[in-house]
Amino acid sequence: MIPKVTSQWILESAIGSKGLKLVHNVSIPQLAEHDVLMKVHAVALNSRDNQIANGKYMFKSKGAVIPCSDCAGEIKAVGSKVSRFQPGSRAASTFHPRWHYGRLSSRDQLSQLGVLEDGVLKQYAVFHEDSLVALPGNVNFLEGCTLPGAAVTAWSALFGSNRPCKPGDIVLIQGSGGVSLFACQFAHAAGATVIATTGALGGEREQRLRALGAKEVVSYRDPKWGSKVKNLTPSGRGVDFIIETSGAGDQDARCLAVGGQIAAIGGNGASGGNVFDMRAIVGEVRKITVGNREQFEEMNRAIEGCKIRPVVDEKTFGWTEARAAFDYAESGKMWGKVVIRVADGNDAIQGKL
Ligand SMILES: NC(=O)c1ccc[n+]([C@@H]2O[C@H](COP(=O)([O-])OP(=O)(O)OC[C@H]3O[C@@H](n4cnc5c(N)ncnc54)[C@H](OP(=O)(O)O)[C@@H]3O)[C@@H](O)[C@H]2O)c1
Repeated sequence: MIPKVTSQWILESAIGSKGLKLVHNVSIPQLAEHDVLMKVHAVALNSRDNQIANGKYMFKSKGAVIPCSDCAGEIKAVGSKVSRFQPGSRAASTFHPRWHYGRLSSRDQLSQLGVLEDGVLKQYAVFHEDSLVALPGNVNFLEGCTLPGAAVTAWSALFGSNRPCKPGDIVLIQGSGGVSLFACQFAHAAGATVIATTGALGGEREQRLRALGAKEVVSYRDPKWGSKVKNLTPSGRGVDFIIETSGAGDQDARCLAVGGQIAAIGGNGASGGNVFDMRAIVGEVRKITVGNREQFEEMNRAIEGCKIRPVVDEKTFGWTEARAAFDYAESGKMWGKVVIRVADGNDAIQGKL
């Protein structure tokens, strides 16, 4: 049966997770020719979702907005001219719904779910077919919902330039957040050597980083970690790729190989050094804004081909626990992605309507 109404969370005001409110009985719009209706099974959080909830993101929502950009689910109905999906297809959202391929334009940048446009924290969602991708066959919904933001960012950082990551390259990942763990898995699968930093050297996080493919792990609390990383590379030549999620431009300059690449992604730790001093770097800095649909589809083929399983934190959250999920993601205690099981209770709620 095709539902006519959905429940959804809205971010009413930017006061953190307390600004989230669960709303029921919201009408689902009629499908246009190229629209599909997705039963959302799972939604993953990115650090950006808490930044938006706290009014600290680069863009501010104009008013109440449905949060989150990353979901996976099953297509339940399709418009008359849909060709990319059919009822029963498994699909994921794209972070920039209108950026399909090529270079990022300002229009593409502003098409961004969960802040300037309503996001995906809802039980049923209508999408234009062009804004979704098919899930890789080897991932379930809980894993698949983690792909649109963190995974595509890591993929485009490693493989999105004219000189992509190759076997034998050395890749530095910073911290064990969502983007870093995907970058670790992708770089390892590509035959690169991974060096990781973490704030929790000597503990379970270090062991898990090694199990995921990191050959060396260094503490980012060491004020000279950049030089330490460089010294770990053969003949001290430095690293070929820096997956820059921490904003430590000064340390990056100490460990980048001549001709290497820095993928400028985030500011976890916000050391203030994220404006790179190009006089100190004989290499390339690329600004990453997640990635486009073509890169997402390319990545999904690699995930399937290399049998990569996204890392989901062992603690997942039910549909009514979105606030707790936001708080947990903000705590930084997770290992892997924080996921909300949207389909939990879906049928029960549908039954009541
Ligand atoms: N430009 C883009 O397209 C894009 C896309 C996605 C994300 N981002 C940004 O990239 C950053 C990472 O995102 P995420 O989703 O991966 O974050 P996340 O999952 O929330 O990252 C949490 C991790 O950050 C690490 N961390 C904390 N302080 C650090 C420091 N001083 N140096 C290095 N790592 C530190 C911690 O690692 P340990 O526990 O190991 O210490 C922690 O586990 C964020 O700033 C986010 O806004 C940008």
